[in-house]
Amino acid sequence: MNKPKVVVTRRWPAEVEAQLKEHYDVQLNEFDIPMTANELKLALQTADALLPTVTDVLNADILTVDNKRAKIIGNFGVGYNNIDIDAAKAQGLVVTNTPHVLTDCTADIAMLLLLMSARRAPEGERMIRNQQWTGWTPTQLIGQKVTGKTLGLIGFGRIAQAMAKKAHHGFGMNILCFAPSQPDPAIMADLQATRCTTVEELLSEANFVSLHCPGGAATKHLINEQRLKLMRPSAHLINTARGDVVDSKALIKALKEGWIAGAGLDVYEGEPAIDPEFLELNNVSLLPHLGSATEETRIAMGNRVLANIAAFFAGHEPDDKVV
Ligand code: DGY
Repeated sequence: MNKPKVVVTRRWPAEVEAQLKEHYDVQLNEFDIPMTANELKLALQTADALLPTVTDVLNADILTVDNKRAKIIGNFGVGYNNIDIDAAKAQGLVVTNTPHVLTDCTADIAMLLLLMSARRAPEGERMIRNQQWTGWTPTQLIGQKVTGKTLGLIGFGRIAQAMAKKAHHGFGMNILCFAPSQPDPAIMADLQATRCTTVEELLSEANFVSLHCPGGAATKHLINEQRLKLMRPSAHLINTARGDVVDSKALIKALKEGWIAGAGLDVYEGEPAIDPEFLELNNVSLLPHLGSATEETRIAMGNRVLANIAAFFAGHEPDDKVV
């Protein structure tokens, strides 16, 4: 029997690519150059499965291309706001993602950004690299204490809960959350967490606010000028979710004018482009979308995609079917 044909849009960890080669007639992206819209359309017309990443925008124009051969889109990533899900569904395409395997690593990055921002780590590192450090002083780079403070999580899914565990059990932090549905009472009890009824309430009470909601139209600019003004002047905002959840211009204003003390960002509106004004600010810690970037997690994400497409081609429902 002929092996199904699959197109992978970017480089994946070598051992997962080896598995793909073994089981499929696979087209890899040796040079890791992002595919154009036309190349993505052609892939849908010539392959049985398209395996994109969170940076490949699969909009309605691409998904409705004529003469499609593809039946499944196996996204390498838990977030799938890069895919027009309604269009995929209307086209009868199955879409899968990679949940669970990146929960802890993304929560670790959120905690890292929280600590970097609170303790002004990037400023300290710059001082040393620029050979400007003349020694310890009692007033140098004074930040905010993290232990015992209040962390507010907007969105309370797996990643937020993993961060809350690290923050509560590791740093003695008090946990607030804003979640659309009632979280599991056992989890709330373990974290001694309080559910806020509004985003506004959470923003005004938390010392640190971390964003964990999905991207897309429903959450675009959830954090805007009005809401940033509700935060404490000593508070820090952490975003490891999606860039467009925060209005970047409003955040830049908030950081410049001292409405909040700092921000830690792993994701950006329109990334990889970054508003150049962020680069001029000392009170923002910037990482290049590293949430899931560990050896273990990236391999596990690839394996999750492999399992999803294997199930599909065997005639079963993939575990991580989104539509
Ligand atoms: C995801 O999987 O959604 C992440 O943003 C990529 O690490």
